[in-house]
Amino acid sequence: MGEKLEQLHTLAIDIGGSGIKVLVLDGRGQPVTNRNRVETPNPATPDAVLAAIFQLSKGTVFDRVSVGFPGVVRAGKTETAVNLHPDWIGFPLADVLSKQLARPVLVVNDADMQGMGAISRQGVEMVITLGTGVGSALFLAGQLVPNLELGHHPFRKGETYEEQLGRTALETIGKKRWNVRLSKAIDNLSHLFNYDRLYVGGGNTKKIELALPENVKIVPNVAGLLGGIALWQR
Ligand code: BGC
Repeated sequence: MGEKLEQLHTLAIDIGGSGIKVLVLDGRGQPVTNRNRVETPNPATPDAVLAAIFQLSKGTVFDRVSVGFPGVVRAGKTETAVNLHPDWIGFPLADVLSKQLARPVLVVNDADMQGMGAISRQGVEMVITLGTGVGSALFLAGQLVPNLELGHHPFRKGETYEEQLGRTALETIGKKRWNVRLSKAIDNLSHLFNYDRLYVGGGNTKKIELALPENVKIVPNVAGLLGGIALWQR
């Protein structure tokens, strides 16, 4: 049985506001393919995103599928999708994709999946992701508190974390001011959550120019996909 599980290959999919990425992982969570990426279609309706996933997965061999989705996900259904199309609200993504790919599918929030690929599973661990949107995840001894939506919580100057630190803000205010904001955000979060470790992921981590506190670590973007294996081990 254990041996059988080790042989299972998982197609990990990260649906983002600007790119859709896939990678196949072996039973130990090691990548067995390169990361493949396409631009997120515009408008990013369920049909358009599903078609992109179908293209990306063509010719790949896998037994099951893990999806990180940029919104609240409950029991395989997507409940919010601020940076995609409103048709995602209430969409049964796990069911539809499972029929399309003829494999079992698990769907979770993208920051939750990223966290599962990054954390040490000890103490209180928090994850934030900096990309098109701002994602967040919280774990206690490896146990996930699902769908923490810090991004849409008020931060400063009447704006949310996502409005202050998302991709549009970065493009508008530039790297220097964005880094100052990020430093203030990390300071807030450390006092609010008193985490043991904070992991910072997402495509815009390459814009970070701060000396980070010792318990804050930048995680490589691929962690968003590596977490795909941990979904099946919960
Ligand atoms: C969504 C989160 C998501 C984050 C990063 C936010 O706009 O509400 O659910 O994790 O973007 O994609």
